[in-house]
Amino acid sequence: MTKKLFIKTYGCQMNVYDSARMADVLAPLGYEQADSAAAADLVLLNTCHIREKASEKVFSELGRLARAKRERAAEGRTLMVGVAGCVAQAEGAEILRRAPVVDVVVGPQAYHRLADMIAAAEAGGPARGKGVAPNAARLDTDFPAESKFAALPAESAARGPAAFLTIQEGCDKFCSFCVVPYTRGAEFSRPPADIEEEARRLVGLGARELTLLGQNVNAYRGAGADGPVGLGALIARLARLAGLARLRYTTSHPGDVAADQIAAHRDVAALMPHLHLPVQSGSDRVLAAMNRRHTADEYRETVARVRRARPDIAVSSDFIVGFPGETDADFEATLALVREIGFAQAYSFKYSPRPGTPAADKSERVEEAAKTERLRRLQDLLVEQQLAYNRGFVGGTVEVLLDRRGAHPGQLIGRSPYMQAVHVAAPAELFGTVVPVHVLSAHANSLAGALVDNGAKRVNQRVEPSAARSDLARTDKTMGGYTG
Ligand code: SAH
Ligand code: SF4
Ligand code: F3S
Repeated sequence: MTKKLFIKTYGCQMNVYDSARMADVLAPLGYEQADSAAAADLVLLNTCHIREKASEKVFSELGRLARAKRERAAEGRTLMVGVAGCVAQAEGAEILRRAPVVDVVVGPQAYHRLADMIAAAEAGGPARGKGVAPNAARLDTDFPAESKFAALPAESAARGPAAFLTIQEGCDKFCSFCVVPYTRGAEFSRPPADIEEEARRLVGLGARELTLLGQNVNAYRGAGADGPVGLGALIARLARLAGLARLRYTTSHPGDVAADQIAAHRDVAALMPHLHLPVQSGSDRVLAAMNRRHTADEYRETVARVRRARPDIAVSSDFIVGFPGETDADFEATLALVREIGFAQAYSFKYSPRPGTPAADKSERVEEAAKTERLRRLQDLLVEQQLAYNRGFVGGTVEVLLDRRGAHPGQLIGRSPYMQAVHVAAPAELFGTVVPVHVLSAHANSLAGALVDNGAKRVNQRVEPSAARSDLARTDKTMGGYTG
């Protein structure tokens, strides 16, 4: 009998990737993906702990699921609820205490054991009553000695034309504001041979673009047959895969940008000209307090080196305003850095104190009103830069991989090499192909254009996208940034 699974994904691209792998893990139990929680027998929340708001969303969603579960119980039906991801890792036992609706809690390093947990929960009957002690078998937030990657199933459902592939996980940087080293554990790099095998499988299932993922993707150092392999060498190796048109990678740490990474942007045609390089702040004092391990000038120099190798590269970043002790002068230094670099795109956030991180204990908090004002000023500047950057494309042509359906009929959406979202009227047959698009207008977050040759000649060159469009619709919501 088939059962329905709905996975709601919060947070970063790695969670999107993990959600797809969890669906693969549960397929042998008979779970097929549903389009909504209402249609599902099992709902998994794949959560994000990065900021307080992201974590809070989980508990409000669990409230809704508790009501749904009660309604179903009244009709003699069941609903199983699981919590995965970084909130599961950070607050596992607390979730089981606070939210009796939850049947299983599984941390990011234990996904290969999810099927056993779900099977056990199914056998143990549906809902647990209020006040029932958390069942240890329903909580797995270990960092097992064995790598989950080796134990995850080789079978995967199609991921669509633009797929994610985790090559590195975890973080040893311990930026003083960040939960990731605690929720994802120590840095681990997958062996290049395993990555290549998964890449080949994804291409076989219709992927034309792969985004290599890691919390510190440029700290990648995989054990190859002839010694360690770095990110640049891995990219060169993957670029040779037949059928693969594009490669991307995210997220890089400024302190780990190496010569081979920069050279790949010069030498590997399939590597897209985009670098996401979070800087967080333009003040050396704040950077030191954040434990970022580089100065503002070192960041400037790194960007300059990358631009010398690949002059048209789009540089994007992340920022935090209102870090404890950040003064007006520190914030002005951030604005100055932004003006100097000129970012194609950026995410910016108010500092959110996270339990267990060193910065959360600092007493010199920045007033909420000051945080709000700084965020507004920074975002105004970043949006202005983004708009100017995008306007520079109007009248020109960009190659777009059409990987999503638009909101309007007859519309497809894809990414330019520079990571811009491009909306275009195009026949459905062009889904999954790279087409030249004449750019007609620019917005802060997207471009709109028309097919250069109306796509007619390209229909025949199409690589079959193979099934799983609902899978794509699901990932769309989290593409291109942090939803948490
Ligand atoms: N190095 C990571 C960063 C993940 S978190 C990566 O590879 O993607 C993404 C961004 O969230 C960070 O760059 C930072 O700007 C922001 N962030 C992290 N912790 C935060 C906190 N406590 N408060 C506000 N923003 C935070
Ligand atoms: Fe967090 Fe810093 Fe590691 Fe990025 S590098 S995941 S911000 S600790
Ligand atoms: Fe990603 Fe959020 Fe975890 S950003 S690594 S899901 S805390």
